[in-house]
Amino acid sequence: MYPREKLIVALDVSTAAAASKLVVAVGDSVLTYKVGLRLYTTEGPKVVRDLISMGRKVFLDLKYHDIPNTVAWAVREAAGLGAAMITVHALGGGKMLRAAAEAARAVNPDLKVLAVTVLTSMDEPELAKVGVQGRVPDEVMRLASLAMAEGCHGVVASAQEAPELRRQLGNDLLIVTPGVRPAGTDHGDQARVVTPAEAIAAGATHIVVGRPIIEAADPGEAAGKILAEISVAMK
Ligand code: C5P
Repeated sequence: MYPREKLIVALDVSTAAAASKLVVAVGDSVLTYKVGLRLYTTEGPKVVRDLISMGRKVFLDLKYHDIPNTVAWAVREAAGLGAAMITVHALGGGKMLRAAAEAARAVNPDLKVLAVTVLTSMDEPELAKVGVQGRVPDEVMRLASLAMAEGCHGVVASAQEAPELRRQLGNDLLIVTPGVRPAGTDHGDQARVVTPAEAIAAGATHIVVGRPIIEAADPGEAAGKILAEISVAMK
């Protein structure tokens, strides 16, 4: 993989106009953009089509979690839209995960289905309140193993979780890691952060970076620095 294939920029803005302005400002060095709940809720599928027509790839992070039939249809629609990567909640269960993976393969065999395990906003007391006993890392591993067994391509996971996921689930697993900050930058509300190099060294195949790029005075320059860090980590 080239460094350019490993960086995903999160388009955490509210309008298509702001999104396309950012894509232009970042320039050709970045290929993949994450469209999440915020932008998708305001602008819908058009924003995905627009990014694709600009020659970009889209990570559609809508974290599907519903009955298998509904999720399978949503995945088919996302595949038809041209998304390159999508997310589902592993807590939807094995049947839902398999339905998602099969729907993706049926429409676009290259579409990557990633499972979200335990949201990083959840800690053990929060998990206990929803009836999940035990340690967070064990729950992450259980859900990641389930997702892979049911045909998903990888997981969204923190850099802290990545080494164990890599060790137990092997080299085919995609690990997409948010919470990344270039050395010496503002951490925003991310509590535990790693640098791009640390994330890659921990086993991440992709890193998701939002504010350090989209709020930078020069987003293109900020992205370039991160790509340089990724290149060094890959050597
Ligand atoms: O701005 P920042 O780089 O923190 O953005 C990271 C992106 O990754 C955001 O879109 C955020 O929703 C997402 N994310 C995260 N932490 C998680 C899961 C997803 O920051 N644990």
